[in-house]
Amino acid sequence: MTKIKIHPDGPVFDCREGDTILRAALRAGLGMPYSCNVGSCGNCRFELLDGEVLHQRTDAPAWSERDLKRNRWLGCQAAPKSDCTIKFRQDPSTVCRDRPEIRTAELVSITPVTRDINEFTFRIPAQDGFRPGQYALITPPDVEGGRAYSMANLAGDGTWSFMIKRVPGGAATGCLFEQATPGDEMTIDGPYGTAWLRADSERDIVLAAGGSGLSPMVSIARGALAQGMLDNQTLHFFYGARTSSDLFDPEAVLGKELAGKIRFTAALSEAETGWSGPSGLLPNVIAQTMGPALCEQELYFAGPPAMSAAIQKTAYEAGLQMDRMHFDEFF
Ligand code: FES
Repeated sequence: MTKIKIHPDGPVFDCREGDTILRAALRAGLGMPYSCNVGSCGNCRFELLDGEVLHQRTDAPAWSERDLKRNRWLGCQAAPKSDCTIKFRQDPSTVCRDRPEIRTAELVSITPVTRDINEFTFRIPAQDGFRPGQYALITPPDVEGGRAYSMANLAGDGTWSFMIKRVPGGAATGCLFEQATPGDEMTIDGPYGTAWLRADSERDIVLAAGGSGLSPMVSIARGALAQGMLDNQTLHFFYGARTSSDLFDPEAVLGKELAGKIRFTAALSEAETGWSGPSGLLPNVIAQTMGPALCEQELYFAGPPAMSAAIQKTAYEAGLQMDRMHFDEFF
């Protein structure tokens, strides 16, 4: 166990062996800026004033030689080798109501959602709270390091379920899809993420997803229904896929009541004979469907990096304020 002090007169918190400075700070209830937790966004960068750290991932996309020269490190990758003093600007908005914990969870079921997305449901011991839209880090057996996957269900029944798309050649999804069976135990660390449902917003809601991004959007839609938001607010749910064989039945996935209360649009990026729905890139379909009203929405999105970046750009160009766009920066 090492001690981490926030410069100049901030709190001191403990960091367990093997943990990163970011996760230890969040477990201690401290607001360290972050988004992806996997070295991609750079939001968790801090300055090391004293002590020694080691990056778990030296090839983290958001970290460079220049950072190293300036003694700047990524909180989500830096594991302390000694007591440390660090400097960063605290951001209270990243403090989780449910502090992240590392748990051993039992896989209880695997349910197909599309031809390459399965829903994996785990029984979570003890505290199972999270907000709709948050994610956790799952470490399948024989895979090094956790992978970020978002929960699709709502907290409260002792389970967390994850809709995960198989990545061709991916070690983690290869293990989950080919080897995992109910009864297996895996390490799950969470909840993380700040793109959770803003239940206090009275604006209409737009959800946009592709691939595994389906999972947090399903959770947010379920949360909006549970909170009674859909009695007065319109929820548009956009899902982008390549072909019609990549789509799912909204009633089967969301349930009849929720599917009946939202406006669901599936869009195919590839032209297909017999397809009567919209075709084209998802950001364009969103812009065409929503028109000028897009800038009045509360927007949540998740999915492949290029798609997420394009949705952000489209929404920005439509005049939507950044504080009404909710996403975790995996791109
Ligand atoms: Fe650390 Fe994204 S790079 S949270």
